[in-house]
Amino acid sequence: MHNTIRVNNDVTYIGASDRRIALFENAYPVGNGMSYNSYLVTDKKTVLLDTCDSTVEKQFLENLENALAGKALDHIIINHMEPDHSASLKAVLEKYPSATVIGTMQVSKIVQQFTGIDITDRFNTVKEGDTLNTGSHTFRFITAPMVHWPEVMMTYDETDKALYSADAFGRFGALSGNIFDDEASLWNGHLSSARRYYANIVGKYGIQVQAVLKKAAALDIKMICPLHGPILRENLAYYIDKYDKWSSYTPEDNSVIIAYGSVYGGTENAADILAAKLSEKGVKNIRIYDVSKTHYSKIVAEAFRAKALVFAAPTIDGGLFTEMETVLNEIKNKNLANRTVAFIENGTWGPLAAKSMAAYFEGLKNINILPEKCTVRSTVSEANLKELDKIADAVAACL
Ligand SMILES: Cc1cc2nc3c(=O)[nH]c(=O)nc-3n(C[C@H](O)[C@H](O)[C@H](O)COP(=O)(O)O)c2cc1C
Ligand SMILES: [Fe+2]
Ligand SMILES: [Fe+2]
Repeated sequence: MHNTIRVNNDVTYIGASDRRIALFENAYPVGNGMSYNSYLVTDKKTVLLDTCDSTVEKQFLENLENALAGKALDHIIINHMEPDHSASLKAVLEKYPSATVIGTMQVSKIVQQFTGIDITDRFNTVKEGDTLNTGSHTFRFITAPMVHWPEVMMTYDETDKALYSADAFGRFGALSGNIFDDEASLWNGHLSSARRYYANIVGKYGIQVQAVLKKAAALDIKMICPLHGPILRENLAYYIDKYDKWSSYTPEDNSVIIAYGSVYGGTENAADILAAKLSEKGVKNIRIYDVSKTHYSKIVAEAFRAKALVFAAPTIDGGLFTEMETVLNEIKNKNLANRTVAFIENGTWGPLAAKSMAAYFEGLKNINILPEKCTVRSTVSEANLKELDKIADAVAACL
């Protein structure tokens, strides 16, 4: 049975949530599921903005049919061709053969690659600033290349002052009837889901996000309709400021995170001692994460939040503890910048972990690697306490 939700007079939410999913993109744990948003604008002409993931296709198609209420589907705007939004496109193209497809140049090729359908005879390529009038709505297209796929664009409805933002401003988590951020107090303040989504999915493309934010700044935006998570229509400045910080790799908080890996507890002990010393020096909101226990996507998000990052790991086979490698590899991939970084290493016969960890930061911009480091040999020694004290002083001084 259809389950549509009215956004306003002309716009209907026709997306759906998957609460069975454990790992979004088979990588990111989503304890609260995932929503795949799709919107139908009913004007003189009807406009579908993006489709849905295959897991919710049945619900989505029922919703679309119901929202159309017997009208023809005239246009399909594809802001993003990634299968979590386009898997259901094949079914829509087949069910509504007279609908035209609108997207950036790359879209028709990617449609062909994913669906096998040649849409060239029904495809309208749009460029930056092109518009589509459907009666009382005028849609303006804003290209957003590599945010985070090449074909991405955003669509601004000049009538509703609504920005259909593709994956930008999206979040992990299913929706629960309340599709607006301001309707569900649970969402409010639950910034961590938005941050983890941004850092891991879009985080590498800060330069491209900055370029789109500059274009968006020229628009009068009253509502942001992303492809995941709730619609934003209050506190827009707050969310846009967060996106500005994340995409410019500006720390949100003057705080420190300590991420450690440990087999026997020696490195963990050093991490705890450092945290205690930082606390004694007045540092607040210290967070410690065990890289074996906390999913890397959460630590990557925390690295986008905090200003100072301490990594502590044992040497394993002359290299690095594997889970720490995963965390640092992801941080490197995201082009994180503008951080103070310190290392604690451990090794019983030939500690090399700090060198291995430092290598991940080569080429990243404005990373201040503290010369103070701590080298533990199996368990924390008196000499290590002094080293940790020096790290704590240096970290506290940078905050
Ligand atoms: C599989 C394995 C490989 C290791 N390889 C090295 C090594 O190459 N060099 C070294 O100095 N220590 C090596 N070690 C020892 C650990 O680095 C050392 O025991 C360290 O104290 C462990 O820290 P933890 O107490 O935090 O687990 C290895 C330990 C394990 C379990
Ligand atoms: Fe995407
Ligand atoms: Fe997505």
